[in-house]
Amino acid sequence: MFNFEKLFAALLVAGITAMLSGFVADIFVHPHEIEKDAVTIDGAAIASTGPTKKAGPDPVLALLSEADVARGAKLSKACAACHSFDQGGVNKVGPNLWNIVNKAKGSHAGFSYSSAITEAGGSWDYDALNHFLYKPKAYISGTKMNYAGLKKTEDRAAMIAWLRTLSASPAALPGAAEIAAEAEAAAAE
Ligand code: HEC
Repeated sequence: MFNFEKLFAALLVAGITAMLSGFVADIFVHPHEIEKDAVTIDGAAIASTGPTKKAGPDPVLALLSEADVARGAKLSKACAACHSFDQGGVNKVGPNLWNIVNKAKGSHAGFSYSSAITEAGGSWDYDALNHFLYKPKAYISGTKMNYAGLKKTEDRAAMIAWLRTLSASPAALPGAAEIAAEAEAAAAE
């Protein structure tokens, strides 16, 4: 007959062994994290914090042509409390976003923008959207868009690819030169 006590004992031993080996592995192969190193050049101490977290978003331009537009549409539900997306749609807490790609920042008729947006200058090209949607308040400090941001690169690519479709004549997809320029700028951020 099957012995449940033995099975239980075996499982217990297996569990303890797994715990112990994890614990031991932790002691012996604990990764050495470089927290800080200081380099002294000409008497001046230059502190470097080693590999730092990038401040800006990862590039998206190269992902746009293959991005999951349906996913973008789905993600837009998080924006819909504040934005309408249809042509001629109403302004809510935020402006209507039909035809937003390459539109001048802060230019939708009848919406009262913060001066942060109207004074930002430029237009909502793919790169500007990537930065704004990553962390709105970091890209345009003082914006009244209260939204934390889309942190996943694929999510931003999907969202921007979907926003692009909201137009009678969607903007051209980025070319190789633009993709390369974006990668270079992102590496420097
Ligand atoms: C809590 C409300 C809220 C949410 C959620 C929100 N927004 Fe906004 N959005 C705003 C407001 C308000 C503004 C105007 C900002 C200003 O004037 O500073 C804005 C501005 C914008 C602009 C600039 C529009 C222009 O005409 O210059 C874009 C693009 C935008 N939002 C995209 C999005 C997207 C995409 C999402 C979802 C991922 C989103 N927003 C989520 C409130 C919101």
